[in-house]
Amino acid sequence: MLYEPKIGMSIDELDTPALLLDLDAFERNIDTMAAFFADKAAVLRPHSKTHKCPEVARRQLAAGALGITCAKVSEAEVMADAGVSDILIANQIVGAIKIDRLTDLAARCDLMVAVDNPGNVQDLSAACLAKGVTLGILVEVDTGMQRCGVRSAEDALALARLVAQAPGLEFKGLQGYEGHLVHTLDPDERAAGVRQALGLLKATKALIEMHDIPVPTISGGGTGTYDLSGTLPPMTEIQAGSYVFMDAKYVQVRPEFENSLIVLSTVLSRPVPERIVTDAGLKVMPPDFGWPKLLGYAAEIAGLSEEHAKQVAPEPASVPLQPGDRVQFIPSHCCTAVNLQDRLYVVRERVLVDIWPIAARGCAQ
Ligand SMILES: Cc1ncc(COP(=O)(O)O)c(C=O)c1O
Repeated sequence: MLYEPKIGMSIDELDTPALLLDLDAFERNIDTMAAFFADKAAVLRPHSKTHKCPEVARRQLAAGALGITCAKVSEAEVMADAGVSDILIANQIVGAIKIDRLTDLAARCDLMVAVDNPGNVQDLSAACLAKGVTLGILVEVDTGMQRCGVRSAEDALALARLVAQAPGLEFKGLQGYEGHLVHTLDPDERAAGVRQALGLLKATKALIEMHDIPVPTISGGGTGTYDLSGTLPPMTEIQAGSYVFMDAKYVQVRPEFENSLIVLSTVLSRPVPERIVTDAGLKVMPPDFGWPKLLGYAAEIAGLSEEHAKQVAPEPASVPLQPGDRVQFIPSHCCTAVNLQDRLYVVRERVLVDIWPIAARGCAQ
């Protein structure tokens, strides 16, 4: 039977581990980002890989976002089912199975996808032609992250020409995500890196437009760089995602956003005074960006196993935790933590006010 906590109950009555959303902090994060973009030429197209949750997407759109970014076709299907009408899949969609799903999706929303390969452009065009749909295309440029993307303005031009001539496809512009810079702590180093990344996009846009192909859209940017990419030409839309939740790593880079995502956990055991063992482990708080942060107690995580977190208290007398007590953690990486849960328990002032399904969790296809 599905565990059904009652709206209105205190978080002290919630079973654990539970992924809580601090609604006040979340709303402030949405408002802070919306206020930033209110008077900018660039617009926000938030990345839903962070939250995988249609209710969060609805609130981002209500606050002024132009559309939603997705990582995967399956994630985009969930967002379209929830009524999101303007979607960018900021990835290459390759292979007959996925392209079939992609072109079905293109029939029911405004859809753009990234490309960096001529064979993929031909496959997408043939599939769109067969289904009678039109797909928007962004040519991805590698601005330094060394992931996907063409490596030069000339290669981008060649691909843009191919797209512009391909039936069923509409060349919309460029994607350039500066993911290698979003966690750079030093603001000067970050700004210099972003300027360099945007320089390549600017030169690429100029070259393509010199050949009479308009470049209306340039999409990229993340929570770590939104204020730079969002104000410097030529970026037209920013794909920031983590700002809604933040996490133990990202909050060091962007303190103007608050940690709104919290893991509520219970102390299971204190077998010796120095060691406190709690009930949320790897299956709740993935450590891909480091250990989660325990709030309020002078104890450090010493290890995670599947269902346990082990904390060590250097001064045991100062940490009065006993089995049954509740603790809270900030996950090290919000995006991977959210993907492990079915629901967000939405709380305001320690009271459960709503439960939001994380409908696209696990949507990796
Ligand atoms: C393509 C793309 N755009 C944007 C982002 C920005 O996300 P965040 O705001 O979490 O840094 C990411 C992060 O992984 C990404 O892969």
